[in-house]
Amino acid sequence: MAARVKALVAGNWKMNGVKASKKEVAALARKLAAAKKKPACDVLVCPPATLISTLKEAAKGTKVAIGGQDCHAKESGAHTGDIAAEMLKDAGAAYVIVGHSERRADHGETDAVVKAKAEAAHRAGLTAIVCVGETEAERDAGQTLKVIKGQLKGSLPDGASARTTVIAYEPVWAIGTGRTPTPDDVAKVHGAIRKALEARFGGEGAKMRILYGGSVKPSNAAELMSVPNVNGALVGGASLKAEDFWGIISAYL
Ligand code: PGA
Repeated sequence: MAARVKALVAGNWKMNGVKASKKEVAALARKLAAAKKKPACDVLVCPPATLISTLKEAAKGTKVAIGGQDCHAKESGAHTGDIAAEMLKDAGAAYVIVGHSERRADHGETDAVVKAKAEAAHRAGLTAIVCVGETEAERDAGQTLKVIKGQLKGSLPDGASARTTVIAYEPVWAIGTGRTPTPDDVAKVHGAIRKALEARFGGEGAKMRILYGGSVKPSNAAELMSVPNVNGALVGGASLKAEDFWGIISAYL
């Protein structure tokens, strides 16, 4: 029987947001507090690093957690422009996204780099959201499961547990395009991810959250979130406005 897993709906603001954007987090927190029935999911917002402490302050005393979008593998040192997992934690983050396809593509991050970043997150006491996903060419070549399994194998640290690690399956071709896989396709990939996690991490793998990401919006969230082994969403564009993000979280009401 499938383990019971509390879902996570995570917003990835990418390179968007200034101090005034804290009003969106405040509005989100108000919606959560006012809801008669509480959504059966955790809620997370991952803004640019410049906003972590501002949003943490805005979310104080609420059920909204704050996270980073990337971290360096090292704790400190001569790495101009980089940010350590310990610094994210110090600023108020509880999570950090690692290995997003935009980082893999724009910064040449390999599975080994992503794994080192996930280890850094664990070292700092952050939950790592490790992203995997195939490109359109890989999908067309029938390589989806092979690519995903390879990314999982290379990107996940051996000591990963359900508390410290979340997987996000994000088909690269679905990110920011308005296109999504069919629920059947999502079920196939999430089922294969679950199997791989159980084979490697046993009972912890059975409980690890597997998020779906890529063009999730209020109108498709309920359908995507009801797919077996989908334990939440990683949301880009639709997480920027509290109204839209709440529409997605509402899939868990
Ligand atoms: P999107 O982005 O929801 O805008 O497609 C998802 C992501 O990249 O995490």
